[in-house]
Amino acid sequence: MKKISVSAILIIAALASCKVSNNANTSTEAKSTTKLNCTNVILTYADIKSIIESNCSRCHNTNNKAGYNFLTIESVKKAAQNGQLLGTIKHEGGFSKMPAFSEKLDNVSIEKIECWINGGMKD
Ligand code: HEC
Repeated sequence: MKKISVSAILIIAALASCKVSNNANTSTEAKSTTKLNCTNVILTYADIKSIIESNCSRCHNTNNKAGYNFLTIESVKKAAQNGQLLGTIKHEGGFSKMPAFSEKLDNVSIEKIECWINGGMKD
């Protein structure tokens, strides 16, 4: 009898914690359809490196086009700090639209880059 009530408590506890995490997931998912929720997530350069390298580095490489070699994190940070990185990929007024001659990056990629910048541009 004692064993049963202990396992009953464990099951209830497991169900309760499961329910809590499900709720948390649901609210995060609801937000991520429109905006990536990066308040509690710090992105590192590894999270955005492939976006930059597959969309930007074929033009901005050791040739230093427009002053940027996006094969280096230093160059990406420089563009982030002077506002050109977000300005160009979000197609804001006063900036060239990047990537040049290609589709605008998808929203999640743009938001990941923005989260990385807002999170302090971690290596
Ligand atoms: C097809 C080649 C090409 C690709 C791909 C490309 N760029 Fe560029 N980019 C250029 C050229 C050429 C210039 C300079 C002339 C101009 O501003 O249009 C430039 C200029 C820039 C500038 C200078 C700011 C400005 O307003 O002129 C930034 C910042 C930049 N690119 C970022 C990026 C980023 C970020 C990506 C990837 C998302 C990217 N570029 C992809 C060719 C490219």
